[in-house]
Amino acid sequence: MKAIEVSNLTRDYNGLRAVDGISFSVDQGEIFGFLGPNGAGKTTTIKILTGQLRPTSGWACVAGCNVVTEREALKPQIGVVFEHQNIYESLSSRDNLVFAARLYGVDTRAVDGALEQVGLSDRSREKTQKFSNGMKQRLLIARALLHRPKVLFLDEPTRGLDPHVARELRGFIAGLADQGVTVFLTTHYMEEADRLCDRVAIIDCGRIVAINSPESLKGNHGQDQTITLEDVFVELTGNIFQ
Ligand SMILES: Nc1ncnc2c1ncn2[C@@H]1O[C@H](COP(=O)(O)OP(=O)(O)O)[C@@H](O)[C@H]1O
Ligand SMILES: [Mg+2]
Repeated sequence: MKAIEVSNLTRDYNGLRAVDGISFSVDQGEIFGFLGPNGAGKTTTIKILTGQLRPTSGWACVAGCNVVTEREALKPQIGVVFEHQNIYESLSSRDNLVFAARLYGVDTRAVDGALEQVGLSDRSREKTQKFSNGMKQRLLIARALLHRPKVLFLDEPTRGLDPHVARELRGFIAGLADQGVTVFLTTHYMEEADRLCDRVAIIDCGRIVAINSPESLKGNHGQDQTITLEDVFVELTGNIFQ
C-alpha cells in the first residue's frame, strides 16, 4: 500500500483554482518534498490530505484512508505541523504535550517517549518561552508524533531557523523516516530538499511541473555537474508565460 495516493485533485476558492488536477503517490517511509513558490498550492494540498479541507474534485488516500469519506479513520494515522502553529509558552514542553495528549485522547504515557524522540527530554520541565525557535519547532513535531502517526506532514518546518538548528532538524526528520514514518514536507530551501528528500514534486500555479528524485531532476537538466535543484526550480516555476 502506498502511504499517499492522489488522483486528479483540484481545489477552487471562489473561482480561483489553487490546486489544479495534481496526481502523485508517495511510498511508505519516503521523505517527499513538495516545492513551489508562494501561492503555488502547497498548504492547500496539505489541508486536503489531512482532511481539513474538501477537494473540489479528484480523490486522495492517506495511509489507506480516503481523505473525504474516511476522515475519522484518517486522523490517528497522520500528524501535521503547520507554519505559525502555537505552543503554550507559559507551560513546560512536558505540560504542553500532556495537555495535547488529554485533548486528543492519547495516553499521557506517550509524552516522555515523544520528548525523547525529538531530543527534548533534558529540558522537558522548563517553560517553553525560553526555548529557541528550533526547540519550539521540535516540540511541535513531538506534539504531532504523540499518537504515533504513520504519515507526518510538515509545512515549512525549517522556515526562519538558523543553519545549525535547521541542519539538526533535518537530521531528526531523516531519523523519523528511518523508523518507517512517511514524511511529506514543503520547503523553500532547495538545498534542504536536495539533501533530505527521496523525491520531490515541483508545483507551480497549482500544477505539478516535475516529479522525481533530486538527482534525476538535476541530471535531466543537463550534464553540467554544477546544476543545482534551485536552478531546476527557477527554470520550471514562476514563469507566467509558460
Ligand atoms: N482560504 C482561502 N481563501 C481564498 N484563497 C485562498 C485561501 N487559501 C489559499 N488561497 C489562495 O490559494 C492559492 C494557493 O495558496 P496556498 O495553498 O496557501 O499556497 P502555498 O502554501 O503554496 O503558498 C493562493 O493563490 C492563495 O492566495
Ligand atoms: Mg503555504
